[in-house]
Amino acid sequence: MQDLISLHDLTPEELQKLLKLGLKLKKELKHGIKHKMLEGKTLGMIFTKSSTRTRVSFEVGMTQLGGYPLFLSSNDIQLGRGETIHDTAKVLERYLDGIMIRTYAHSDVVELAEEANIPVINALTDLLHPCQVLADLMTAYEHKGRLEGLKFAYIGDGNNMAHSIMYGCAKADINCAIATPAAYQCDAEVVENAKEDFAKSGGSLLLTEDPIEAIKDADIVYTDTWVSMGMEEEKAERQKVFMPYQVNKELFSYAKSDAIFMHCLPAYRGFEVTEDVIDGPNSVIFDEAENRLHAQKAVMAILMG
Ligand code: CP
Ligand code: NVA
Repeated sequence: MQDLISLHDLTPEELQKLLKLGLKLKKELKHGIKHKMLEGKTLGMIFTKSSTRTRVSFEVGMTQLGGYPLFLSSNDIQLGRGETIHDTAKVLERYLDGIMIRTYAHSDVVELAEEANIPVINALTDLLHPCQVLADLMTAYEHKGRLEGLKFAYIGDGNNMAHSIMYGCAKADINCAIATPAAYQCDAEVVENAKEDFAKSGGSLLLTEDPIEAIKDADIVYTDTWVSMGMEEEKAERQKVFMPYQVNKELFSYAKSDAIFMHCLPAYRGFEVTEDVIDGPNSVIFDEAENRLHAQKAVMAILMG
């Protein structure tokens, strides 16, 4: 593993190793054991989109590992004024030990990783959000005691979360069911890649327009905003089309009675999910948010340690 761009690039063993290390670092942190694995190292964190969880968890994680996190808003660096990714990569690799990037075009992150000879971590693109799914799988494991054979239902937009969930489920032998409206299906190339991964996996993939079919007997129920960053202009149209995909008490009742509810956050109550579900007893949203810290510490320790 040189970079973390997509969970599709990992072997199932590499995924297990990351999850195991994340769980270990979490447990040891709670026992006051400190790991200064990245002493003297610096992580550059490029953001061209907003963030609460990603920024804070990477900064805190890097600090806990003894390193230094450097926040680089695209408004403040020359990348935002048209400097090329190539030149940015070649300059940053002279100063930094790793780069974390959150941006729009996935191809920009791929290019950055190709050009920079230091590890690059994808902290969300329009296509994928691998760090979130690492934290989600860790959380599911903590609550269910296993991953293999679980049913993971994602209801809503065929977006970056849906894509990374598909990849993550395939590598962890999870049965993945995704329900999206016809006009908002997952990216065709991601689906093809995921199908290849599922062919080698103990898990399965179901893509449907029917939210009840997807959620039926699920162990994990997941949704995400209907209006991802950069899609604000489509908000009114999306809120109409997606309403039948709202995860409310009625829809959630089709899942197993002990199903956990997950959401990457930020959430919009009354739209993709109702309060009785997201704030109800089955919701594990803040465990997921916490696990961003532990899972990403594992990523940084393995890539930059
Ligand atoms: N889930 C997530 O990535 O949250 P932020 O956008 O706040 O980083
Ligand atoms: N799909 C959402 C995820 C936010 C963490 C977005 O891209 O805005």
